[in-house]
Order: sequence, then structure tokens, then C-alpha cells
Amino acid sequence: MGPRRSAASSCRRLLLPLLLLGVSGFFQSYAIEVDIKDASNATCLYADWMMRFLITYESNNGDYKTTTLNLSSSVTHNGSVCGNDTQAAVVAVQFGEGHSWSTNITKNNETYQGDFITLTYNTNDTAVFPDAKRKGPVTVVVKDSLHPVRLNTVFVCHSSYFIEAENITQIFWNVTVQAFVQNGTVSKKETRCPADIPTSAPTVPPTIANVTAASTTTSSPAPTTAPTPVENPETGNYSLKSGNKTCFLATVGLQLNVSRDKPVLININPKTTIADGACGNTTATLKLNDGNGTLIGFTFAVKNTSANVQKFYLREVNVTLLNRLNGSVISSADNSNFSKWDAFLGSSYMCRKEQTLQINEDVQVHTFNLWIQPFLVEANKFATAQECSLDDDSILIPIVVGAALAVLIAIIVAAYIIGRRKSYAGYQTL
Ligand SMILES: *[C@@H]1O[C@H](CO)[C@@H](O)[C@H](O)[C@H]1NC(C)=O
Ligand SMILES: *[C@@H]1O[C@H](CO)[C@@H](O)[C@H](O)[C@H]1NC(C)=O
Ligand SMILES: *[C@@H]1O[C@H](CO)[C@@H](O)[C@H](O)[C@H]1NC(C)=O
Ligand SMILES: *[C@@H]1O[C@H](CO)[C@@H](O)[C@H](O)[C@H]1NC(C)=O
Ligand SMILES: *[C@@H]1O[C@H](CO)[C@@H](O)[C@H](O)[C@H]1NC(C)=O
Ligand SMILES: *[C@@H]1O[C@H](CO)[C@@H](O)[C@H](O)[C@H]1NC(C)=O
Ligand SMILES: *[C@@H]1O[C@H](CO)[C@@H](O)[C@H](O)[C@H]1NC(C)=O
Ligand SMILES: *[C@@H]1O[C@H](CO)[C@@H](O)[C@H](O)[C@H]1NC(C)=O
Repeated sequence: MGPRRSAASSCRRLLLPLLLLGVSGFFQSYAIEVDIKDASNATCLYADWMMRFLITYESNNGDYKTTTLNLSSSVTHNGSVCGNDTQAAVVAVQFGEGHSWSTNITKNNETYQGDFITLTYNTNDTAVFPDAKRKGPVTVVVKDSLHPVRLNTVFVCHSSYFIEAENITQIFWNVTVQAFVQNGTVSKKETRCPADIPTSAPTVPPTIANVTAASTTTSSPAPTTAPTPVENPETGNYSLKSGNKTCFLATVGLQLNVSRDKPVLININPKTTIADGACGNTTATLKLNDGNGTLIGFTFAVKNTSANVQKFYLREVNVTLLNRLNGSVISSADNSNFSKWDAFLGSSYMCRKEQTLQINEDVQVHTFNLWIQPFLVEANKFATAQECSLDDDSILIPIVVGAALAVLIAIIVAAYIIGRRKSYAGYQTL
């Protein structure tokens, strides 16, 4: 049963949204240091970084769980090589019960750049993957998205960054890397990642800043606390592919309302957001990672209506917030009891007005300018849209209720008059 079903189950594994169960424990974070020396015992490749992985897997009872895979205290770096003009440098590490991670780095005459990242996790590790249905190593390869780094400079990134692929979120932080080190000395010159570079000075235009400074006695500018966004989020276009065919289309502006001490609105920036997920015949999942620590998953399903026609609908939404510094899960919210956004299979669903999805008591997702088609996308285009109950039903409902009341009153009055006439007539005949 096991091997024969593995193709189907690995396929279903991809359909699964992030269900963060059992991530509450305390996990130690370890920094990894790899210092590879060449034949003359001089450093030629240096890396020091921290990373962890969020992985969704199928459990024995068919549920999907998301687990955190952390580095253990003992890490080996077999297979790491210096590289040269023709051969890629490789940083490779092995950790825990049969897990490994590597990246190959290529150089040209001015820069070096990560090529691919390969993660192999072993679901035989029962401490990390309790109750996993499929046991054994799973390998995921993803293109490294970092920009090229100037040769003879060291790449430094204290901020965390997230790579999303195949329902795995790879989180890196506190990164220091130099490949193709010359003369055995890690460079003093740094190339910093954009996230580390403080946004240049105040966001207030200089003229306004001057006015403020002039009107106050203290010369120090007021602290620029990031204001909660009140403007609507930018609308993003997202799609998923199956092979080289687009199978899922979505246009949507997304805003989160997360309540901890007080409600905070977070606008999802489409420019930094990566879409991942999977298409299927009866379920389809779109996962969005905004690159800033916010993950949102939407799962659609197909149902048969009473008239025996098939419709799709939104069934589940989950939201995961990660700590920007170390990628640990701050909160995760999931609601799998939705029955919204339904439209006939083969069509698309559209709703321009703002809608609210209540995920749990603390998390809401607001959608704007929604147009979505999770199934049967043809030729990379949306099919005919079914729109949400007229984009202005806030006005329509009072009108309908008012009209119904008016009709009801008219009927009562008419009945009363007719009744009175009849009884009046009755009295007269007596
Ligand atoms: C991540 O950092 C937060 C504070 O910034 C800390 O409370 C939490 O324990 C850290 N998590 C891990 C797994 O290191
Ligand atoms: C890097 O590794 C990937 C995956 O193993 C491989 O496909 C690619 O060819 C490698 N790139 C170089 C330059 O060696
Ligand atoms: C780098 O190589 C390209 C061609 O491969 C060449 O045009 C360019 O001038 C080279 N740059 C330097 C600094 O040597
Ligand atoms: C996983 O564990 C089972 C038994 O616990 C063993 O038969 C199997 O070979 C292991 N697979 C791997 C890849 O370690
Ligand atoms: C490495 O050493 C050579 C000769 O000592 C020198 O010319 C070169 O500039 C050095 N390179 C770096 C990056 O320090
Ligand atoms: C994918 O594209 C290639 C060429 O771009 C084509 O030969 C191939 O048939 C396509 N595959 C599918 C499944 O459409
Ligand atoms: C955000 O959520 C809180 C609590 O659910 C709610 O009171 C508040 O009105 C919401 N704000 C917006 C702008 O939706
Ligand atoms: C990053 O590393 C420095 C020391 O190298 C350490 O003090 C700091 O706590 C680390 N940051 C995180 C978020 O782990």
C-alpha cells in the first residue's frame, strides 16, 4: 500500500495549508559556522548563519501538520567545497536525524551568487515529524533568490529572510557568507542585504521636518513610529502553475487585522509576496508569503449542489505570523469552516468591495478587489465571473426589507378593510 500510494500522498501533501500544530515547545537556535580551507590551509569559503524550516507533512490519520525543523547542536559540513572559476562553491551541512541542507554558489568576474538551495528532511525523525505517514527523506530544490554579491566582499544580513517553495518555508537570519575568499582572509568590506539598511533618515519630507524643528524648542526630531496603515492595500496578481500551465488565478488586495494588545492593520505588499501552493481537481490551495513574516493560505474545495451542478467555494483560511528576527512562529490562526465565495465550477468569483474573513477572535483578513479562479483555468485567463451579491448589498438589504414591509402593511390594511366591509355587510343583513 505504502509505496504505491506515495505519489498520491505526496501530491496531497502539497495541497495542505499550514496547520500549525505542536509548534509551541521551546526550540534552541544554533548558529552554524563553516570555514573551509584550501590545500594551503587558507580559508576559501566562510559561512556563519542561522536557519530553520517550517514543513507541512501528512500524518497517519490523513491530517496535515506543520512542524518546525531546527538545527541541532551537532552539525557536520561534509561536501562543502571552495569552488573556482569553473566549479561552483558549495556550502553543505548535515544535522539531526538524517537532514541536510546545501547551496551552490557560482562566480563570474565581478560577483558571486547562490544558485540553488537543496533541503533534504527525513520524516523518519519522529521527534520532528511525529506520526508521519510517509517515512524517509524528502528533497526540495529551490532557486536562491539573493542578489549577486561583489567579489572580495562579505555578505552580511542580520535581518531574516524567507524562501517559500513546495509548502516549506526556509527562514534565514544572522547570515555572514563569503565565497571565493582571497588570500585566506574574510573581507572587512561588507555587502549588506537591503533589509539591514536602515530606511534613509526620516520619512517626513525635509521641508516639513524643518518646519517641525523650527516650531519646537528641542532640535531632536519626533520619533517616527510607523503609523498603522489606513489606506487600502495594493492589489496583487498571483497565479499557480501545474507544469507549464496556469491552474490558479487570483487578483486581490489583502489586509490583516491582528489583535494582540490592540488591533493592528497590516497591508500585504504584492511586490514582495510570493505565491505557492497546489492545484487539484477537488481542492486547491494558494499560499502567500509576503517576505516579511506573514503567511496566508486559502483553500478552495468543490461541492455538488442540490441541482447536481458543481460549485467551488472557499473552505479554509489560515494566517501565520513569524518573528522577523528569528523566524519563530508568533501566532497562527486557522478557520476551516468557511463556505464563502462560491461560484460554478469553470467560472471565476469576483467581489470588488471589501470583505472580512474572521479567522479567529484575534485575526481578520480583509480582501479588496477580489477576482479568483481556483479551478479549470484555461489559457491563462479568468473565465466569466460570478459577482458577489451585488457589490452594494449594504444599500440593497434595507431597500428589500423596506419593500417587503411596505407590501406586508398593504396586505394587512387591505385585509382589515375587506374584513370590516364583510362584517359590516353581515350586520346590515341581520
Ligand atoms: C525568537 O525571538 C523572540 C524575541 O524576539 C523570543 O521570545 C523567542 O523565544 C525566540 N524564539 C526562538 C525559537 O529562538
Ligand atoms: C547547483 O545545484 C543544482 C541542484 O543540485 C544543480 O541543478 C545546478 O546545476 C548546480 N549549479 C551549478 C553551477 O553547479
Ligand atoms: C567580465 O566579463 C565580461 C565578459 O564575460 C566582460 O565584458 C567584462 O569586461 C568583464 N569585467 C571585468 C571587470 O573584467
Ligand atoms: C525509516 O525507518 C524505518 C524503520 O523505522 C526503516 O525501515 C527505514 O529504512 C528508514 N528509512 C530511512 C530512509 O531512514
Ligand atoms: C591578495 O594578495 C595579493 C598579493 O599579495 C594582492 O595583490 C591582492 O590584492 C590580495 N587580494 C585581496 C583581496 O586582499
Ligand atoms: C510546456 O512547454 C513546452 C515548450 O515550451 C512544450 O513543449 C510542452 O508541451 C508544454 N507542456 C505542457 C504540459 O503544456
Ligand atoms: C480589527 O479587529 C478588532 C477585533 O476583532 C475589531 O474590533 C476592529 O474593529 C477591527 N478593525 C478593522 C479596521 O477591521
Ligand atoms: C545574531 O548573532 C549575534 C552574535 O553574532 C547575536 O548576539 C544575536 O543574538 C543574534 N541574533 C539573533 C536574532 O539570533
